[in-house]
Amino acid sequence: MSLNIFITGASSGIGESLAYYYSRKGYTIGIAARRNDRLQTVTDKCIELGGNPIVYNIDVSDKEKCKDAAKDFMSTNKGIDIVIANAGVGGDDNILSGDPSEINSILKINLLGVTNSVIPFIPKMKEQHSGRIAIISSIAGFRGLPHHGGYSASKAALRNLTESWNYTLKPYGISLTTIFPGYIDTEMTKDHKFKMPFLMHSDKASRIIANSIQRKRRKLILPWQWKFIIPIFRILPRFLIYRFTPNQKELK
Ligand SMILES: NC(=O)c1ccc[n+]([C@@H]2O[C@H](COP(=O)([O-])OP(=O)(O)OC[C@H]3O[C@@H](n4cnc5c(N)ncnc54)[C@H](OP(=O)(O)O)[C@@H]3O)[C@@H](O)[C@H]2O)c1
Repeated sequence: MSLNIFITGASSGIGESLAYYYSRKGYTIGIAARRNDRLQTVTDKCIELGGNPIVYNIDVSDKEKCKDAAKDFMSTNKGIDIVIANAGVGGDDNILSGDPSEINSILKINLLGVTNSVIPFIPKMKEQHSGRIAIISSIAGFRGLPHHGGYSASKAALRNLTESWNYTLKPYGISLTTIFPGYIDTEMTKDHKFKMPFLMHSDKASRIIANSIQRKRRKLILPWQWKFIIPIFRILPRFLIYRFTPNQKELK
């Protein structure tokens, strides 16, 4: 049976790998992102692998564009099976500049980008009494990290948002999986100058993510080692957080 899957942030990294994973199964995939050239490359490879990609050149912070894309995807394919809200950006808060633009942009893309891209699919899933949603948070959502408050806050907000939505959606047969990746080898991490523990290839991450969506797991932390580190990470004294997380200087 073929599935209809919509993935945001499919032009690189985890989203791109997920698009290839589902293409190998011959599924129909809505691939959404901003960079047209990258989307074209991903489309070509999806077709080569046996998938049926449909491109949506959208910015997830644009509510109307997301709504139109969801409507188009559902009407073209007569339904929706899986939505993966993966699009996200990292970056420095830059609060010392006095300009809130950078942090606001991170919050908007990482948080409102998720509500914009997921919610338009929910009425159809409710009508079908089926559907799977996956939202990509981060292990950074478990503590406020130095200089990356916007990123940490957006990912922490997704943790609470999805915990709440799980209660709302479950009676309608809709599953919701929250993904908490550690370090994954993608464009987001390629310029990190520090050693990233348990760094995982995005193809491997996408296989694990897809499997947890398939099994309707509520929560996935990957690589698995972080499951044991996070409880310690959450109670570490502040000075150790500062010592062992990359600060501004190390990132440059
Ligand atoms: N890599 C890691 O170690 C790691 C760890 C924890 C969590 N995550 C999360 O995993 C997700 C995927 O990141 P990645 O590591 O695969 O990084 P990536 O390679 O930089 O991919 C990010 C994707 O999001 C898209 N995107 C960004 N802003 C967008 C916007 N406004 N509208 C539409 N698409 C947008 C990008 O496409 P365009 O630029 O073409 O729009 C790109 O396809 C993110 O949510 C990230 O926070 C990653």
